[in-house]
Amino acid sequence: MPPFVPDSSQAKPISDLFITTLSIGGVIFLLVTVLVITAIVRYRERPGQPEPRPIFGNTRLELAWTITPAVILIVVAGLMINTMQRADPPVPANQQPDLVIIGHQWYWELHYPKLNVNSANEIHLPVGRKLLVELNSADVVHSFWVPNLSRKMDATPGMNVRMYMEADKPGSYPGTCVEYCGQQHAWMRILVIAQSPADFDAWVKQQSQVPPAPAGGEAARGAQVFQQDTCASCHTISGTLANKTFGPDLTHVASRQTLGAGVLDNTPANLKNWIQNPQAYKPGVLMPAFNLTNADANAIVAYLEANK
Ligand code: CUA
Repeated sequence: MPPFVPDSSQAKPISDLFITTLSIGGVIFLLVTVLVITAIVRYRERPGQPEPRPIFGNTRLELAWTITPAVILIVVAGLMINTMQRADPPVPANQQPDLVIIGHQWYWELHYPKLNVNSANEIHLPVGRKLLVELNSADVVHSFWVPNLSRKMDATPGMNVRMYMEADKPGSYPGTCVEYCGQQHAWMRILVIAQSPADFDAWVKQQSQVPPAPAGGEAARGAQVFQQDTCASCHTISGTLANKTFGPDLTHVASRQTLGAGVLDNTPANLKNWIQNPQAYKPGVLMPAFNLTNADANAIVAYLEANK
């Protein structure tokens, strides 16, 4: 989706206000430019001519240049208050949210409490339905922004803030963290995938299923390595003993488009490289390199790839 094209009733008023104030600013800029050029040309020094007569004080002019900007600012303030009401209407405080987003250094933890779906970084939305979103942070201040879809909102530890988010038409909408939150602030990408209600329901059905335990082979060994070799002390895979939320939920990780909150495309080869040395791709990321053997890394990849 191109930037600055609003695709929701929350983003539209913000975009309208941006274009209105840009137009007002543009007219003022042109007016000032014309006046400055006129003054330079008309009152330039000419040989043999006397200096122009200096003017002190002009009540009408001074009133005009005080009142006009004041009126423009009052109009813009009015437009802004109207935009705030339209882009960020009051949200119910005691209703269960549709989507909970928790910022982490450096990824987004996602929960759909009513649908029993947990994920990370990639938000799925049903087109035309307004989701009540709650935002929070597990560590430092992050800020959540998907420019085509919604206002920008800070995710502050200990503060549950709420807003509505929706998309008017299907598509992929990129977003990112917009509050500097440490070394990998730039790799805290968001991808919103807006789908038809039927596609969204299919996604929910697939995501809410507990992945079956691998029957045997490399994937089964991978599951064992995952539990024993510390992956399980930070990550969750539903239906297993791994239930920690320090790192992203990896249930159905193979169905996502990227790894490391956008840093790598999610392919088996990248997944293996990422597991073996995440610091090479996202320096400072809180996931350490575990010096896994090649065989163990392959086994974990086989296990995770089975979790579509
Ligand atoms: Cu999170 Cu910047």
